[in-house]
Amino acid sequence: MAAFILAVPPQSPVEPGERAFQRCLACHSLQADAESGPRLQGVFGRRAGAIPGFAYSDAMKAAGRQGLTWDAPTLERFLSDPDAVVPGTTMPYQGGPAAERRLLIDWLRRSGAAARNGM
Ligand code: HEC
Repeated sequence: MAAFILAVPPQSPVEPGERAFQRCLACHSLQADAESGPRLQGVFGRRAGAIPGFAYSDAMKAAGRQGLTWDAPTLERFLSDPDAVVPGTTMPYQGGPAAERRLLIDWLRRSGAAARNGM
């Protein structure tokens, strides 16, 4: 608890995109593969189904082989209707209202960039 308080100053604002990411945390984390979902750090520019060792569906691996790469437009489509973009995907979740999705995708892009800069 003390470590948590030190790491996150009380005034640090949680921006809306990061707040929207709470919806994903049941199955994903940024840094580590979760039991059900692959890690999302660096997802921008990454081929679908590309993390070695994560148990993707055959549908997701096939989509990656066919060239599906995650960027703002593909994430937007996938999060509004996962099965329409990757038919047969095991991700059962639609990523919330459109306005929130946009903020979330923008936040994901920036946190991925921060990670590449060593943060
Ligand atoms: C109920 C669990 C669940 C929730 C909630 C969930 N996901 Fe997923 N997600 C998955 C699973 C399972 C996969 C792997 C799907 C597959 O292999 O077909 C996945 C895959 C993905 C992928 C593809 C990653 C890759 O490496 O190709 C992205 C991007 C993604 N999720 C984003 C999100 C975002 C953003 C949210 C929140 C708005 C979210 N997910 C919420 C279960 C979930």
